[in-house]
Amino acid sequence: MGQALLDAASERIDLEVVAALVRAGNSPADAGFRSTHIPCLATTLSPEANAQVLVDFSGAAGFDSAMELALRHKLALVSGSTGLSEQQSASLQAASERVPVLWAANFSLGVAVLAHVAAQASRLLPDWDCEIFEAHHRNKQDAPSGTALMLGERVRESRGANESLLSLDRNGLRPSQGIGFSVMRAGDIIGEHEVHLVGAGERIELVHRAMDRRLFARGALVAARWLCGREPGRYTLEAVLGL
Ligand SMILES: NC(=O)c1ccc[n+]([C@@H]2O[C@H](COP(=O)([O-])OP(=O)(O)OC[C@H]3O[C@@H](n4cnc5c(N)ncnc54)[C@H](OP(=O)(O)O)[C@@H]3O)[C@@H](O)[C@H]2O)c1
Repeated sequence: MGQALLDAASERIDLEVVAALVRAGNSPADAGFRSTHIPCLATTLSPEANAQVLVDFSGAAGFDSAMELALRHKLALVSGSTGLSEQQSASLQAASERVPVLWAANFSLGVAVLAHVAAQASRLLPDWDCEIFEAHHRNKQDAPSGTALMLGERVRESRGANESLLSLDRNGLRPSQGIGFSVMRAGDIIGEHEVHLVGAGERIELVHRAMDRRLFARGALVAARWLCGREPGRYTLEAVLGL
């Protein structure tokens, strides 16, 4: 994702990368960067860099140091690191009292809109069965994906939280209420999510397919630009999109 962020930043004229942070002792190649000509590669942030926002995709392992750096330099913090512990989530919340913070499990702008549209549609059709399907590459460990669960949660909320999220390994008749999930793991699929609303004799299918990993970086940079100059607080991707 570090490389994807650099690529995505190079597509924009309103953003400047003042530092690409790597672990102490790492060379650009160690850090997995394609270009060895990154002028701003650093292991810590210099105040002269005049940074405004820190974008973190270092995962749970790097999250604490990224957040500490954002607080030390009073930078807005955009984070897409997943697998955070409860303690890390609580620290993120506490950090939002001091700097603007935007964390999202999925920075796809398309998925944010899918969630919004799915919630609207299922609110209007509360009696229709809702089934969520997701597909990812064969190395993904968790199932259903965090995004599929988020979509289920949004549908549930839109119906007054009366329905439950059904377990993946269900057998027998479908209960009259409940949001179902199914999963495919195969090949190198980046990520696909489908929300099916099925009524008597008709159905609506809402589908999102990720085709390029850079989409997450692009979404994070849209959020980073939007977050600059905001008051400390906790913000969402939905707010960025005005949903
Ligand atoms: N929210 C979203 O939309 C979204 C999308 C894609 C991915 N993600 C999440 O983003 C994270 C990264 O994904 P990835 O596939 O890019 O993983 P990755 O290839 O493992 O990259 C993580 C990078 O963070 C670096 N890092 C870890 N700790 C560090 C520290 N203390 N200081 C400096 N650098 C540190 C690692 O450096 P080393 O190589 O030295 O270990 C590595 O280069 C994961 O949590 C993933 O789930 C989120």
